[in-house]
Amino acid sequence: MKLSFPSRPCITPEEVSAALDAAVGQVKRNLPQFTYSCQNHSSVNGFYAPCENNQWTCGFWPGEIWLSYEYTGDPVLKYAALILVESFLHRIENRIEVDHHDMGFLYTPSCVAAYKLTGSRDARKAAVLAADRLLGRFQPKGRFLQAWGGMGAKENYRFIIDSLLNVPLLYWASEETGNGRYREIAREHTETCLKYCIRPDNSTCHTFFMNPETGGPDHGATCQGYRDDSAWARGQAWGVYGTALSYRYNRRREYHDMFRRVTQFYLSRLPQDLVPYWDLTFTSGGAEPRDSSSASIAACGFLEMAGHAEREEAEDLRTLAKQIMKSLFDRYRVKDPEKSNGLVLHGTYSKKSPYNTCTPEGVDECVSWGDYFYMEALTRLHKDWDPYW
Ligand code: GLY
Repeated sequence: MKLSFPSRPCITPEEVSAALDAAVGQVKRNLPQFTYSCQNHSSVNGFYAPCENNQWTCGFWPGEIWLSYEYTGDPVLKYAALILVESFLHRIENRIEVDHHDMGFLYTPSCVAAYKLTGSRDARKAAVLAADRLLGRFQPKGRFLQAWGGMGAKENYRFIIDSLLNVPLLYWASEETGNGRYREIAREHTETCLKYCIRPDNSTCHTFFMNPETGGPDHGATCQGYRDDSAWARGQAWGVYGTALSYRYNRRREYHDMFRRVTQFYLSRLPQDLVPYWDLTFTSGGAEPRDSSSASIAACGFLEMAGHAEREEAEDLRTLAKQIMKSLFDRYRVKDPEKSNGLVLHGTYSKKSPYNTCTPEGVDECVSWGDYFYMEALTRLHKDWDPYW
């Protein structure tokens, strides 16, 4: 499979350091606004507003602070991120907006990171409680973690490909507590999710419904993609990173094959600068917005799999990640803090199409996870990183 684009330049080690210096500078500038508040999921005209700790995206900003702390060792960053950990403990103990599966997105970059880096007991407690909450989303009939809505509701009897980034919290909880149940459910869900979300042409569907009576497969559908039968760019990117992480935790050869398949499709739909349009239906020109966050997520997936692949494939994957990061560094990152308090421009959270069911928001803006995964990919290029996931 074609794993690199020979005409595209790679980001250099000096540029990686420059990008991290600039990102950390922006994170520090943002601390006064976002230590006792969280950061909204997406910017408006380039600027994030503060929000309560009640969105699925609130874990990414503390994740950026932890990555900044790893890069600099600055105790101010640790102090601020630990204040946010208390807010995450409060949230899970009081069950504030936790009736969904996004416990991993919330608690991995905020609290698992905090525990790994500082040994914070509150962080550990919060993350284990979040893992328990995620276990409660398991549907034995169909063997999957239900993404959204009331448990068992027919209109919500489904999982989504994004969930592959939520299950590492379960592997961590198993390791940490010695209770194998978390791992068992993680494995069952992963198997179901990958079996049905990857289509025969190697594209992915965003969400997949199961039959609540029989537990058998029902149908794929989109929420944030262009159409039910298209490939939402971020869903495909979650698939790239998610299959790499699934391989990390299970070492199953078929997960490596699935990684190659979803990667192949993703790469085949990229425009010249390697940053996808928001849905992979769109491949060149036109007025459709990009989703730069998908590029960073995919780069993280390539770097994760590079750590497990044989030499030649690993080198190709690293090259690919460096090419993507070069494009983000040159053309997408925020260069002037007067114009944005984010890190990466041109992300798309949810774009309405005539065929999808999403609420439009964050179109052609900075998005919180886009900033986080941009920093994660840079960190992975900068050093041998111990993942939070
Ligand atoms: N997990 C939701 C999203 O990627 O927008």
